[in-house]
Amino acid sequence: MTRIFSGIKPTGHLTLGNYLGAVRRWVEVDQHAAEALFCVVDLHALTVEHDPARVRRLSRQAATLLLAAGLDPALCTVFVQSHVDEHARLSYLLECTAADGELRRMIQYKEKSARARASGESVRFSLLSYPVLMAADILAYRTDEVPVGDDQTQHVELTRDLAVRFNQRYGQTFTVPRATRPTVAARVMDLQDPASKMGKSHESGAGIVYLLDDPDVVRKKIMRSVTDSGREVVYDRETRPGVANLLEILAACENGNPSELADGYASYGALKKDTAEAVVETLRPLRERHAALVADPGQVDAVLTAGADRARRLARPVVDAAYRAMGLLPAG
Ligand code: AMP
Ligand code: TRP
Repeated sequence: MTRIFSGIKPTGHLTLGNYLGAVRRWVEVDQHAAEALFCVVDLHALTVEHDPARVRRLSRQAATLLLAAGLDPALCTVFVQSHVDEHARLSYLLECTAADGELRRMIQYKEKSARARASGESVRFSLLSYPVLMAADILAYRTDEVPVGDDQTQHVELTRDLAVRFNQRYGQTFTVPRATRPTVAARVMDLQDPASKMGKSHESGAGIVYLLDDPDVVRKKIMRSVTDSGREVVYDRETRPGVANLLEILAACENGNPSELADGYASYGALKKDTAEAVVETLRPLRERHAALVADPGQVDAVLTAGADRARRLARPVVDAAYRAMGLLPAG
């Protein structure tokens, strides 16, 4: 059976981009079609300046939201990365497989390190090695498919390179995975700045719809979104990025097609209104289930404990095999 692995970082509150670009497909397709693991990758949240209490809180919230979104522990494995030591163990072996040049070429590293330097912060070494840890997340489970948004394809490519290189040098150990992407909303853009991704770590929240935003806040953010000059509603990412983003969000919520939807609108205002309502309706069940889960935290803890047990059982033999293949003396 196909094995699927994906992860989400607890660096901020989950956004509509996370949901439409990733989580919704995990819920609707992946957990039914494959043996799937979904991980709150908390170690990755330590690659930039962080507040320990906040990371702890956001990790729990991310896990709760994944369950609220509809991941079903009877169908898939939901767990927290730091509960399973195998990720860090394998990461070191892959650091010994990767070259520093290929890590320095990662777009996300270049962007994030430049941003940190510009604001006078030091760049953590783990920001550079981050994609190696991500490769370990994936390879430890002999994953076939990695469903992620567009921004992660380069990291999955690196993971493939590392798997192939390791297998060639030390013998067949890892499955070479491939990235799969959603057909619409692979990249939901910031409502105030349609040139950049709707990302949970942005400073200003005005262009970001958070999954737990009140419906009125969602409406306000969408009604105030930046559109483009011109008047007629056409779907063109290049010349009308703001409108295209709204059309994609609407299409993703209604399982429609952005250019066909464009034909039905005579004004930006009407498009914004319908998009706002579609998003509010899409998020409603998630918000309701989230409230129920928060009232019963023991349930989330139990899911995470069982998930980590299961993940450990799967990853252990793979990582042990990698240790042996690389020449480390078995402990007996
Ligand atoms: P992250 O928030 O970076 O941990 O991302 C978790 C998942 O959500 C990854 O698969 C990302 O590719 C996806 N994702 C994050 N932001 C967006 C966005 N604005 N549009 C589409 N997918 C996204
Ligand atoms: N790097 C991913 C992101 O920023 C999160 C992630 C970490 C991930 N490990 C993973 C995604 C493994 C897929 C598979 O979104």
